[in-house]
Amino acid sequence: MPGKMVVIFGATNILWTVFVASQAFKIETTPESRLLAQIGDSVSLTCSTTGCESPSFSWRTQIDSPLNGKLRNEGTKSILTMDPVHFENEHSYLCTAMCGSRKLEKEIQVEIYSFPKDPEIHLSGPLEAGKPITVKCLVPDVYPFDRLEMDLLKGNHLMKNQEFLDDVDRKSLEIKSLEVTFTPVIEDIGEVLVCRARLNIYEMDSVPKERETTKVMQVYISPKNTVISVNPSTRLQEGGSVTMMCSSEGLPAPEIFWSKKLDNGNLQLLSGNATLTLIAMRMEDSGIYVCEGVNLIGKDRKEVELIVQEKPFSVEISPGPQIAAQIGGSVVLTCGVMGCESPSFSWRTQIDSPLSGKVRSEGTESTLTLSPVGVENEHSYLCTVTCGRKKLEKGIQVALYSFPRDPEIELSGPLVDGNPITVSCKVPHVYPLDRLEIELLKGETVLKKKDFLEGVDKKYLEIESLEMTFIPTTEDTGNVLVCQARLQIDEMDFEPKQRQSTQTLYVNVAPRDTTVLVSPSSILEEGSSVNMTCSSNGLPAPKILWSKQLKNGVQQPLSENATLTFVSTKMEDSGTYVCEGINQAGVSRKEVELIIQVVPKDIQLTAFPSESVKEGETVIISCTCGNVPETWIILKKKAETGDTVLKSIDGMYTIRKAQLEDAGVYECESKSKSGSQLRSLTLDVKGRENNKDYFSPELLMLYCTSSLIIPAIGMIIYFARKANMKGSYSLVDAQKSKV
Ligand SMILES: *[C@@H]1O[C@H](CO)[C@@H](O)[C@H](O)[C@H]1NC(C)=O
Ligand SMILES: *[C@@H]1O[C@H](CO)[C@@H](O)[C@H](O)[C@H]1NC(C)=O
Ligand SMILES: *[C@@H]1O[C@H](CO)[C@@H](O)[C@H](O)[C@H]1NC(C)=O
Repeated sequence: MPGKMVVIFGATNILWTVFVASQAFKIETTPESRLLAQIGDSVSLTCSTTGCESPSFSWRTQIDSPLNGKLRNEGTKSILTMDPVHFENEHSYLCTAMCGSRKLEKEIQVEIYSFPKDPEIHLSGPLEAGKPITVKCLVPDVYPFDRLEMDLLKGNHLMKNQEFLDDVDRKSLEIKSLEVTFTPVIEDIGEVLVCRARLNIYEMDSVPKERETTKVMQVYISPKNTVISVNPSTRLQEGGSVTMMCSSEGLPAPEIFWSKKLDNGNLQLLSGNATLTLIAMRMEDSGIYVCEGVNLIGKDRKEVELIVQEKPFSVEISPGPQIAAQIGGSVVLTCGVMGCESPSFSWRTQIDSPLSGKVRSEGTESTLTLSPVGVENEHSYLCTVTCGRKKLEKGIQVALYSFPRDPEIELSGPLVDGNPITVSCKVPHVYPLDRLEIELLKGETVLKKKDFLEGVDKKYLEIESLEMTFIPTTEDTGNVLVCQARLQIDEMDFEPKQRQSTQTLYVNVAPRDTTVLVSPSSILEEGSSVNMTCSSNGLPAPKILWSKQLKNGVQQPLSENATLTFVSTKMEDSGTYVCEGINQAGVSRKEVELIIQVVPKDIQLTAFPSESVKEGETVIISCTCGNVPETWIILKKKAETGDTVLKSIDGMYTIRKAQLEDAGVYECESKSKSGSQLRSLTLDVKGRENNKDYFSPELLMLYCTSSLIIPAIGMIIYFARKANMKGSYSLVDAQKSKV
């Protein structure tokens, strides 16, 4: 209100003075005297008047620099717009208003600043425990920096405070910063870094004086203690597999990477997994494997070297490095391969002689069959296996033996007390002979021993024997003969290595003291009975065999009974009887003469062709007697000088070319102890022409008519049965069958 008077001291005094002088011509500005503007903003200064219908305005800066703004006059107002505000606008602006001759002036101080953004916190790197770090706090586009003050805090702890008063008065937008270096520790995790900036412009409250930025600290630990564990081993076989585990410590937990180091030193990434499993390894997979633990702030590596070894291929030959094979048997040698898929086989003998066997190869096995095994198979056999470019050889020694049967004990004959006997012990088909040892024992006593060392070169399966002779006695009975054969090849594995046979001795005693008891007598009357009892000593008890000794030398067996009985003897029973005591050891014989006496009867004496013959004719004089043998007949020619006994054959006497002196009396006498019979005849021989009969028939006497006949006193038992046996009973056979 114009009429109201207000007393104002200071600056308003001037206005008052002008008002009084010009009478209500007034000037006003907005803002009144001072403007704080931020660079880049748009601000206006308004100058207005009252009390003048059409004032004129003019603006200028106090130092007469350009206005750097746009002017607009609207009636009683003049507006100076600065868009955008910048350093050139930092002046005192003077608005001059003219109303006629009246002139009024008003000044506005324009001050500028810049503080548009919050401070920024920059770290020189990630926060790593124990490692110094530089924190930089910066305030961008700040002005005027002499008014800036910055604080850097860790939590509540002020690390640094800085003012920038020293800075020269430059008109520019600058970035002001504050740096602190410190060493973070694990405990700093979660703490905040605070950067606070204050622009100390006191005049106006509306300006944000303080800005602040916080940053939560993340403290890291670089990977360390990287450890690799390898299962099963860093040395592998071709085709094998391996599992490697890697661990590494750090914050944040490191990521694990597995790589392989290439020849040029580069790493070839294999896996991002802590566990790396490699299968079917080949030799070229050998090398250095690298595990890296990696996190934001670092990495730690560990290396491990894997060595893939060539898969060993091996050859096994069975059974064992040596085999004992029985000659005639069969042997299978097997050559087996491990660690090679398709091996090739070849067999040979060490001395390159023929294999003498059949080879069969299939897959990873090859067999050599020797059947039947013979001496030609006694070799070292070698199996050669080729696998790829590799070659292996294994050998097996085939050693032969033959020891198929127990020894055989043979005696040269039956064991007889006192008779030397040869024992032989035979061992058939032994090989190798030089290792054979034969021992012959009687009970515990070694009788003889033999080895065959000189038989080294014998390759044949012969029968070897040991012989010895000894004289047995009856004390040996019950003792045993033992034949022991040993094939002493300790290094060879076969059974049995020893064989033996035994034979129990039984010593015979040859029959002896054979005696015959004839009861009642060996001279008997025909028809009487007789017992002939034979006994013989020996071991075993001899068997008795009674026989009759025939005239032709043949011995006719009669009985095996000890007693030979004739119930009623006959003439023909006379003769030599033989008793034999027989056992395995021999024969003992005793002869006895049995004489059967008979009374001759029915004696006949004849002359053939006649009792009267001519000189030169042949005449047979024959004497027969029914019950006595011819030998008992005596044919005689009677003469005055004495009787001549004629040599007769079977009771017959032949006179060839009869002479006169052959005429005479012939007498035939059959005589035994029991009696005699006599016959006689007279032979008449007629002479030729001038010859008279030498004996007249009348002179002949016939004796026969007067002969005595003594009755028979016995009877002959005729063993027709035995007579048919024709001597087939053989003593030799009997002995043999009992040995
Ligand atoms: C690592 O291997 C294990 C077992 O083989 C599997 O379960 C897992 O997923 C793998 N991790 C990565 C990252 O390959
Ligand atoms: C012959 O032996 C038998 C039987 O022992 C006997 O009966 C008989 O009387 C004996 N004869 C003679 C002649 O001794
Ligand atoms: C032998 O004796 C037995 C009985 O003692 C008798 O039966 C048998 O006939 C006799 N044999 C001979 C050939 O005398």
